Amino acid sequence: MENRKPDLPPADETAEIAAAVSWHLRRLAELGAQGISREELDKARKRLKARGIRQNPAEALRQIRADLGDCRRCPLHSRRTNIVFGDGDPYARLMFVGEGPGADEDAQGVPFVGKAGQLLTDIIEKGMKLKRSEVYIANIVKCRPPGNRDPEPDESAVCRPFLDRQIEAIRPEVIVALGKVATQTLLSSDAPISRLRGRWQDYKGIPLMPTFHPSYLLRTPAAKREVWEDIKQVMEKLGLPLEVKP
Ligand code: URA
Repeated sequence: MENRKPDLPPADETAEIAAAVSWHLRRLAELGAQGISREELDKARKRLKARGIRQNPAEALRQIRADLGDCRRCPLHSRRTNIVFGDGDPYARLMFVGEGPGADEDAQGVPFVGKAGQLLTDIIEKGMKLKRSEVYIANIVKCRPPGNRDPEPDESAVCRPFLDRQIEAIRPEVIVALGKVATQTLLSSDAPISRLRGRWQDYKGIPLMPTFHPSYLLRTPAAKREVWEDIKQVMEKLGLPLEVKP
C-alpha cells in the first residue's frame, strides 16, 4: 500500500464511502443544501461501519438473485408470472418486509405496487418524507400464493435463506415487519401481531418494529393511527425529523 496516495481510502472502503455520500447527498438535497460537510460525511461513514456491512451490498444482492435463479424449490413456482425478489436501495438504512406478492406484484415482478403497495408508498413518502427508492422492500415469499392465501410454513422456510441473505447484505439499521406473517416468520414467534406491534424486537442484532400490514389498514382505516405511532418510533430511531404528519 506504499504507493497509495495518503488521502485515498483503501479499495474495500470505497463502497461504504459511496453509500454514505449517496445517502447524505440525497437527504441534504431534499433539505435544500448544496453540499456536504466532512463532518457529516464522517458521521455517515461511522454509521455505515457500525452496521457491519462486510461486502458490497449491491453486488451481494446480485449474487443472491443469481443463486435464486428460476426458482422451483417450492410449489408456488408453478403459478407465478414473476419472481418478486425485492426493490430499493441496496444501501438502505430502512427495510420493509411484507408477506408475499399479490396479483399486481406477480404481474410486475416488484413488491408492493398494488393498492396495499400504494398505501405503503404513502407511508414512506408522505409520512416519513423519504423516497421509496431510498428504502428496501422485500417479502417473506417471492412467489404469489394462490388467491393471496398466507404462505405455508414449508414455502416460507424454503424462501427464508434468500431473505436472510438479503437482510445480511443490506444490514439495514431498522427493519419494519408488515403484518402477522412477516413478524412471526422473522421472529420465529407465534405471538399475535396485536401484542407485538409497536414494540421493538430484535432480528440478528437489527432492531425490528412490527406493525400492521397495509392490507389490514385498507380494511381497517382506524388502525392507521397505531401504525403512525409505530412509524414515528422508527423515524426516531433513524434520527429522521418527526414534525411531519402523514
Ligand atoms: N402484500 C405483501 O405482503 N407484499 C406485497 O408485495 C404486496 C402485497
